[in-house]
Amino acid sequence: MALLEAIEIVSGYGKTDILHGASVTVDKDEIVTIIGPNGAGKSTLFKTIMGYLIPRKGKIIFSGEDVTRLPPNKKVEKGIAYVPQLENIFPSLTILENLEMGGYSKDKEKVKRGMERAFEAFPILADRKTQRAKSLSGGERQMLAMSMALITEPALLLLDEPSAGLSPKVTEEVFRHIKRLHEEGIGILIIEQDAHRSLSISDRGYVLVMGQNYFEGPANTILDDEKIREAFLGG
Ligand SMILES: Nc1ncnc2c1ncn2[C@@H]1O[C@H](COP(=O)(O)OP(=O)(O)OP(=O)(O)O)[C@@H](O)[C@H]1O
Ligand SMILES: [Mg+2]
Repeated sequence: MALLEAIEIVSGYGKTDILHGASVTVDKDEIVTIIGPNGAGKSTLFKTIMGYLIPRKGKIIFSGEDVTRLPPNKKVEKGIAYVPQLENIFPSLTILENLEMGGYSKDKEKVKRGMERAFEAFPILADRKTQRAKSLSGGERQMLAMSMALITEPALLLLDEPSAGLSPKVTEEVFRHIKRLHEEGIGILIIEQDAHRSLSISDRGYVLVMGQNYFEGPANTILDDEKIREAFLGG
């Protein structure tokens, strides 16, 4: 059974539709990447899956249950976690406080487990836990943002451009962590500008253009497709 099915989603802001029937599926054991030009509606799709936007048409099914109209906190309870593209940490709070925010409304044991996992995966967060998050580098912020999302022990993780602004070395580290999470059984849906990097660890991929599916298929098919390569992957 699919973990997530977003089916023919029509969604946008105010009266303006940005998504015109976009669809995406993630199975339990998959890493799936969405690529596409700026403004295609990739982040809008995540906001809709998460419940920050309610679709005008279409359905969102999670673990077989219709969650189309659930608000974000209910989606989190169901097992979906989301790391937004922007403003994904609280800069003026400490690292510890940020992690607590990630698990807000959740039981203390979960938060404790999540923190231990975060500190094990990213020792830098442990070393600096009483410092404000604004003192972190871009890569460290991304590690904190992912750790916050993981506090709720999700079945599905949505990552919106996890490598944005990061050096190649830090990007490597972030993607190694994503692979590890996948090995632990978390389904992963990634929006990425570093399409090669992301598709190379993915099972399948989607190309989203102007709010619609332009192409979908096995990740290596997308990497090998000459037309897609020229248009979206820099030749
Ligand atoms: N809060 C908002 N209110 C109105 N329009 C918005 C809002 N957020 C995004 N848009 C518009 O929706 C369209 C799609 O934006 P979206 O952020 O989903 O694109 P994207 O594919 O994630 O692009 P990028 O690769 O640049 O992150 C754009 O035209 C954008 O200007
Ligand atoms: Mg975006």
